[in-house]
Amino acid sequence: MNVRGAIPDDAEAISDVLEELVAAGKRTKPGDAAFVLRHYIVDPDRVQCSVAVDDDGRILGLQSLKRAREGNSYGTPVGWGIIGTHVRPSAARKGVGRGLFAAIRDAAHAAGLERIEAYIGADNDVALDYYGALGFRVHRHEDGIVCKVYEVA
Ligand SMILES: CC(C)(COP(=O)(O)OP(=O)(O)OC[C@H]1O[C@@H](n2cnc3c(N)ncnc32)[C@H](O)[C@@H]1OP(=O)(O)O)[C@@H](O)C(=O)NCCC(=O)NCCS
Repeated sequence: MNVRGAIPDDAEAISDVLEELVAAGKRTKPGDAAFVLRHYIVDPDRVQCSVAVDDDGRILGLQSLKRAREGNSYGTPVGWGIIGTHVRPSAARKGVGRGLFAAIRDAAHAAGLERIEAYIGADNDVALDYYGALGFRVHRHEDGIVCKVYEVA
């Protein structure tokens, strides 16, 4: 597995990852290529958007890190990072998410971010465990949401 920065030409393949999650009942938000391009790849608040790719060049997952701006929809404190992670169900629990975070953590450090927040559904036990395994700790709750924070060393 290789981790690299996402480019606009990846939008269709990343959309395929998100559609696999939708089909598995693990995602409800949009997942089309236009959304991927706008929301992850060329978002003006992007710090890093990484993809994990297998030996055949197939995208297995993505991780997005953005800088929180005033009025962001997650209520994340301004200047913190906001993280999102999406791994194909067919590639789950094989270290893809862990590999993606190694690159994102480096990007956060290079960008001078001190904290990264994950906005997680309170019923999403897998994501809660995943972020916990990476060192994220609970720091606030909203209705149906658990927010975990990672202190960037
Ligand atoms: C959450 C998600 C990103 C994890 O990605 P992944 O590539 O499967 O994770 P990894 O294989 O790197 O696992 C890293 C650690 O996370 C935890 N973990 C991952 N999947 C788990 C599961 N199904 N049950 C319990 N713990 C799990 C484990 O501690 C694991 O370490 P271990 O395998 O050494 O025990 C992936 O399941 C996913 O994309 N889920 C759907 C989308 C989503 O909910 N994203 C988060 C939104 S906030």
